Amino acid sequence: MHAPIRPPTEEAIAEAARVLRAGGLVVFPTETVYGLGAHALDAYAVARIFEVKNRPRFDPLIVHIADPSGMEELWEAVPDRARRLIERFWPGPLTVVLPKRPVVPDIVTAGLPTVAVRMPSHPVAQALIRTAGVPVAAPSANPFGHLSPTRVEHIAPALRARVDLIIDGGPCEFGVESTIVGVTEEAVTVLRLGAVPVEALEAVVGPVTLSTGSPDRPMSPGQLPRHYAPRTPVRVLRPGETVPTSGRRVGYLAFRQVPVDPSFQAVEVLSPTGDLREAAARLFDCLHRLDEAGLDVIYAEPVPEVGLGRAIMDRLRRAAAEVG
Ligand code: TXA
Ligand code: MG
Repeated sequence: MHAPIRPPTEEAIAEAARVLRAGGLVVFPTETVYGLGAHALDAYAVARIFEVKNRPRFDPLIVHIADPSGMEELWEAVPDRARRLIERFWPGPLTVVLPKRPVVPDIVTAGLPTVAVRMPSHPVAQALIRTAGVPVAAPSANPFGHLSPTRVEHIAPALRARVDLIIDGGPCEFGVESTIVGVTEEAVTVLRLGAVPVEALEAVVGPVTLSTGSPDRPMSPGQLPRHYAPRTPVRVLRPGETVPTSGRRVGYLAFRQVPVDPSFQAVEVLSPTGDLREAAARLFDCLHRLDEAGLDVIYAEPVPEVGLGRAIMDRLRRAAAEVG
């Protein structure tokens, strides 16, 4: 069963908005590339994005809003430099990264303390987000390793089979992704080159720093030092391995079941029903809580390496390696 492709009528947009609010996935046009959207404040819906994209790991997502006022709900504060950029380039292909409020689920930001937000100028994207009445998390609508789609004909059949609705807005105006900037009180850093040229940014805020890898390959935040890693050492258990607890404060990250061993200081369970999507939706939250618990070490159970289980295991192994 392939998702229906609908022209951007008022009815289709209203239906897509209902789908989003109910936790479904909608492919929609923006002025840059097509996005694969989900309700950004619904961690379970966002987990499905990673499932459908078949990403072997979690990457932080851009949250799309219909009106600049939407940013106040998502960001802690907006420095003056960021306000100037937003006034000049929104609506449009500029994404701004700033510290997030707690309402933004950790799976959206892959555990980072910041969230990327943009207000697209495409009228269909705007109408959809406004009608849905919720911010929309959306990566480009391509399966992992494919190019970003700039018209519905590019949307891979495998992806089409796994979303709920596709809105056809014709070819995208820019055809390259948005420019991403991180903003602090001190500086503006370009994290990904994109549809807004660096010169245009500099005309508004003066010299900016480039931190983009190479011109056509964005710096993946997975490589950035500030990518979230627990401060507490993490060990991933082998199947059947038991945990030595004596004399240490040990935390336990279970997949399905609270362990019988009562000597753990803190325990988190990813999904009592063994639902990998729920486990993915809760992973960063559980890690954060264990990390706050003043433990000497966190032991994590392995999860099955299928579907989202691959991304979960990737994240756990990175967490384990980063302290090694
Ligand atoms: O034009 C676009 O930006 C399109 C349309 C759909 O809006 N979206 C897009 O999303 O290109 P995606 O997921 O393919 O790329 C998002 C980029 C990734 O490179 C990700 O690492 C970066 O944004 N990103 C997201 N949140 C971030 C954060 N908090 N800090 C740094 N980089 C972040
Ligand atoms: Mg992409």
